[in-house]
Amino acid sequence: GAQGAAVADLTGRHVVVSAGGTREPLDPVRYLGNRSSGKQGYALAATAAARGARVTLVAGNAELPDPVGVDVVPVGTARQMREAVLKAAADADAVVMAAAVADFRPAVYTTAKIKKVEDQEPEPIVLVRNPDILAELSADRARPGQVVVGFAAETDDVLANGRAKLARKGCDLLVVNEVGEHKTFGSAENEAVILAADGTETPVPYGPKEALADTVWDLVAPRLAENRR
Ligand code: CTP
Ligand code: CA
Repeated sequence: GAQGAAVADLTGRHVVVSAGGTREPLDPVRYLGNRSSGKQGYALAATAAARGARVTLVAGNAELPDPVGVDVVPVGTARQMREAVLKAAADADAVVMAAAVADFRPAVYTTAKIKKVEDQEPEPIVLVRNPDILAELSADRARPGQVVVGFAAETDDVLANGRAKLARKGCDLLVVNEVGEHKTFGSAENEAVILAADGTETPVPYGPKEALADTVWDLVAPRLAENRR
């Protein structure tokens, strides 16, 4: 909220934030990707650092400057993101999965560039599922009382889908925003509802991604385990 950076309420805490989007290679020159800019995750990292936290930012393919005072771990694929997030989460007080993680990856990585064959239609691309990092973090908390936060971009039935997703993932908070042609991706602003496992709903009005980030930390801070700084 408005008090934001004035309150060092994350002092002595380690928080992990994932940002950006994963890319799943098909051959040496092609990948399956998504349109996540990384701005929301970078804003979460910067605001947490401003509130006194030690911050690890696991960044997938974001073309943004490293936030000051933040430990940035660059990753490419969902499986690399899983490795980096689980490693950093081992001693973390909170983990926020703001990244757009590819649900699927090509079943086969072709080490040589895929070429056209004259007069032939292309082979279909077979996909397999990637690990669900948020579900895994939520189910196997690295520390008791670790706070786990997810993000969900929905195009319709935003609240109903968000509630169901919160329950399915098992996280403590889920930041739900509506996406569409001109909403959210690449933009500096965001509008959301933050759903909590305890049933509370916190609407966040349309505004800068830093303001949404501060509201997330406003909700995380009182949920952090007491006996741990
Ligand atoms: N997420 C993750 N690992 C995945 C997919 C998603 O950790 N393999 C995380 C995202 O970082 C986000 C949350 O899960 O915090 C919700 O992502 P979303 O794509 O909305 O959820 P899915 O379960 O993949 O559902 P959907 O079928 O709607 O894409
Ligand atoms: Ca997904």
